[in-house]
Amino acid sequence: MIATKGLSVRFRGEALIAYRDLTFERESCALLGASGCGKTTLLNAIAGILTPSSGEVLIDGRNMAAASQREKDDFRIRSIGFIYQDFKLLEDMTVEDNLRVLELERVDVSQMDAVLEELGILPLKRRRVRKLSGGEKQRVAIARALVKRPDVILADEPTGNLNYEIGARIVETLISVSLGRTLIAVTHDDRLAKLFDRVLDMNEIARSEVDSDA
Ligand SMILES: Nc1ncnc2c1ncn2[C@@H]1O[C@H](COP(=O)(O)OP(=O)(O)OP(=O)(O)O)[C@@H](O)[C@H]1O
Ligand SMILES: [Mg+2]
Repeated sequence: MIATKGLSVRFRGEALIAYRDLTFERESCALLGASGCGKTTLLNAIAGILTPSSGEVLIDGRNMAAASQREKDDFRIRSIGFIYQDFKLLEDMTVEDNLRVLELERVDVSQMDAVLEELGILPLKRRRVRKLSGGEKQRVAIARALVKRPDVILADEPTGNLNYEIGARIVETLISVSLGRTLIAVTHDDRLAKLFDRVLDMNEIARSEVDSDA
């Protein structure tokens, strides 16, 4: 379980975002909300990519916000699959090599073929990412996040660049392969949000202020 308590993030001399307390069980959850309301910032705080200025991020009872950078990095590498809106794939490398790069962080990628199969892209394994369609690249990005069988999957607009039909198919796949884990996904599309177990309207959850003492 993931829980946040009194979480706030202050960007140097700029916005202060204060979040209402949240908990995420082993379920799928969509984050909806206006641009700039703090969705990406929440995912980054949960993933330990940024350090909150106050509050706790509890993952299975452990306060990650207080952990050392090394501990956070180890935890993230082992237990969190992060799917970026812009994929962050190595375009000139093959699908297989994009997953194999995780071995540099000592991630076990022995489940690669099973994951590619689940996502319907096993036949693309030896293709260069550059030659794939948008939907295919998105599946590769999801495969890279899932190959380590993480407990937590964080997805920042995983279908942002795709049309509704392809987006819906990818969201359905993502939800089904995430069963039994915690999936938190940002989306701008309320039709896609309905596919998740739960929808959180971040407009009501993240309170943003201009930092007055900057
Ligand atoms: N590195 C940063 N430095 C300063 N301000 C930042 C930084 N990152 C985010 N912000 C500010 O924090 C607020 C929340 O940003 P965030 O990226 O979390 O929004 P978002 O909900 O993901 O928006 P979008 O839907 O456009 O992706 C915004 O006002 C943004 O300008
Ligand atoms: Mg964002």
